Amino acid sequence: MTTYAQELRANAKTMVSAGKGILAMDESNGTCNKRFEALGIPTTENSRRDYRELILTTPNLSDYISGPILYDETIRQSTKAGVPILQVIKDAGMLPGIKVDTGAKEFAGHPGEKVTEGLDGLAERIAEYYKMGARFAKWRAVITIGDRIPSRACIEANAHGLARYAALCQAGGLVPIVEPEVLIDGAHSLEKCFQVTDETLHAVFHQLYMQGVAYDQMILKPSMVVPGKDSGESVSVAAVAEATIRCLLKNVPAPVAGIAFLSGGQTKEDSSAHLNEMNQQFGEQCPWPVTFSYARAIQQPALDHWAGDSSRVAAAQQKLLHRAKCNSLASQGAYSSDLEKQLALV
Ligand code: 13P
Repeated sequence: MTTYAQELRANAKTMVSAGKGILAMDESNGTCNKRFEALGIPTTENSRRDYRELILTTPNLSDYISGPILYDETIRQSTKAGVPILQVIKDAGMLPGIKVDTGAKEFAGHPGEKVTEGLDGLAERIAEYYKMGARFAKWRAVITIGDRIPSRACIEANAHGLARYAALCQAGGLVPIVEPEVLIDGAHSLEKCFQVTDETLHAVFHQLYMQGVAYDQMILKPSMVVPGKDSGESVSVAAVAEATIRCLLKNVPAPVAGIAFLSGGQTKEDSSAHLNEMNQQFGEQCPWPVTFSYARAIQQPALDHWAGDSSRVAAAQQKLLHRAKCNSLASQGAYSSDLEKQLALV
């Protein structure tokens, strides 16, 4: 047991408390700039600050969001008026989180596959972030489905990294969000996605077990079991929910503090409908809260509307809040597409 065990347990519970999810807004400068460029927004430090300030100053955001995941640049920034971003988060009653991996890089000897880096110096970075006020962290590993991939080597290397990261986080007082993302890219079937997600989660929990990670002091951030985006396979919301929950129940130990899905390129409506169905149909069978940690499925309508125009901040914030609310409802099995439309008109 680490010296932080009690605090980690309490914070992990807070992150997935009823009706709340986590807001991923930890895009690296490269990814954030790409999304800005698509909308003609200047790719400067100040525009990234303006956008992140827009998100975090959204009135009542904390009704639906327990905490945001920040990027290193953002956690050190202040609002235009000079208030530290960390203070804004604290004043809103949310917990600040931080992305600590340094990206998914080419996996040597394995064309088409990636391994996530960032372990060197991680203990020191965690100590600095904890001192600044961060209380949870994220590390994203990506698994690609394709011709004869993923390899066992890729799954093992990424699972090992995730567990090394998670153990270091718990030793340093940050709740680890363990994110093994099976990518939606490709033409694979739902069944293939199930097999790969099953093998990946099994390997991840084996490594977490071996390295002594406390399950009740971590959050799992998985991808949903869906067909590849180029598969042409059309599956029902019920089929995605059933396959995803079956895969989780098979692999995720009951003490894990919570499941918080990524949206992974699904449409915003699918992301909400799938989460809703899981809670509605299988909520009682699940030993852990099942909620969201979305980026695009919460942010995109707000980003599109804002597009760098300061006169649109308030309206963009309403769009962000709307998506946060829809996903909060989905985490309680109380969302419907009709409600999505009705609420948008309010
Ligand atoms: P998306 O919800 O856009 O997939 O992002 C979640 C995330 O944090 C990816 O690492």
